Amino acid sequence: MADTYLELINNPLPARIAKSLGLPRPAVLRRHTPGEALADHPLLVVGSGPGADALAAELLAWDLEIRRHALPGETLSAAIVVLDDVSAPMDLAAPMLELGQAVRLLAAGGRVIGLFRAPGESTGPAQAAARQGIDGAIRSVARELRRGATANGIILQRSARVDEPNVLGALRFLLSGKSAYVDGQFLPVGPAPIASAAGSRGDGDPGRPLAGRTALVTGAARGIGAEIAAVLHRDGAHVVVVDVPAAGEQLARVANRVGGTALQLDITTPDAGARLLAHVAARYGALDILVHNAGITRDKLLANMDAARWDSVVNVNITSQLRINEAVLASEVFAPDGRIVSLASTSGIAGNRGQSNYAASKAGVIGMVRATSVEFEGTARTINAVAPGFIETEMTAKIPPLTRQVARRLSSLQQGGLPVDVAETVAFLASGSAAGINGQVVRVCGQNLVGA
Ligand code: NAI
Repeated sequence: MADTYLELINNPLPARIAKSLGLPRPAVLRRHTPGEALADHPLLVVGSGPGADALAAELLAWDLEIRRHALPGETLSAAIVVLDDVSAPMDLAAPMLELGQAVRLLAAGGRVIGLFRAPGESTGPAQAAARQGIDGAIRSVARELRRGATANGIILQRSARVDEPNVLGALRFLLSGKSAYVDGQFLPVGPAPIASAAGSRGDGDPGRPLAGRTALVTGAARGIGAEIAAVLHRDGAHVVVVDVPAAGEQLARVANRVGGTALQLDITTPDAGARLLAHVAARYGALDILVHNAGITRDKLLANMDAARWDSVVNVNITSQLRINEAVLASEVFAPDGRIVSLASTSGIAGNRGQSNYAASKAGVIGMVRATSVEFEGTARTINAVAPGFIETEMTAKIPPLTRQVARRLSSLQQGGLPVDVAETVAFLASGSAAGINGQVVRVCGQNLVGA
């Protein structure tokens, strides 16, 4: 499952040969290590409006070195461009050109982050054009960056302020090594719902934002699910891991590693929801975080598809989630500020040859998440989807070697992601910092060309 080309190319001689031949030169990504500083170099805040001023003032309180204009020749950890006040496309020129100069100073693994208001909430066509324009510009910057740097955006929804906790929580995630494989993406963030004042818990200790919470992860015996369990545990949660009885031994090992409990359960059984709720209620009292990760593929061109392949994929990947959610939402065991995070896939966004059944199920996850999020409006609960692109797991190890090599290089970061990249995004969405994110799909795909 290791990407040997990535390992080789980060040595001096192969790097020089690759450069002269114009071959891809994927960088080793800056990933999170506990206790790390958010930035080793100054952060630049570009923008002349009150939003940029407010954000710069807020970031100073994080003990970071903040610049309003870059000094010649210095290195920057990040350039944050605050464009919350644009009213026409011509307003983009000055800040974007300043950003262009700042990008030259960006450290390896640096970050470009744009903050702007939702185009759909504009006062008219010119403002909508300006706001939508930022989307295009930031996506393009993401494609231009090298050395493991990324560009993403935060879309301020429903009058969310630039310096409010939800927005700052998303900003912290995007600045950190936790978002290493999130690239060319936009996080729509709204103000925290009124009800959250009563029902929502904040993050407390930043090193253990999920302390005291109970999380349940399906399909956790291996791959992405096992890594999600590990990261939720690192962040302080009690973790219940679920998988089919046939994976019982592996599951027990994961449960031991995370100091949690194992529940052998096929999620397609009709009473799966009741059984997992009973398990959580007996051991921990409440369910705070539910991660629907279990998933299967049974690939065939539609012309060769049979009912067994179609039905099994749809049953595991979406029908079971619908059934379990029904039980969970009807139960008092599910916390008032509970989080549901569901694994979708870029195949569910863009479609994929040979995956009509899988794409139907994963697009179905996105539809389910959107509809359920409407039910959560005005409460402190949220539901979101994470759509991984190419992630190095046993699932993708089955892809023929040449296709696998090509698939890895088809993203702006020119490599596949690791299970931990997906797990970090799941953990962020499960945290109090993500209280303003509901009904969204976050791609963890290195800005893969598929479905871009
Ligand atoms: P994996 O195949 O390595 O692990 C999936 C786990 O789910 C296995 O432990 C399996 O036993 C379990 N599972 C399957 N059916 C189950 C059932 N009926 N009840 C309980 N557990 C069941 O898969 P991987 O790669 O870790 O993927 C995890 C999730 O991420 C899946 O939903 C997958 O569709 C999604 N995904 C993965 C991508 C990748 O590149 N690996 C890309 C996009 C999405």
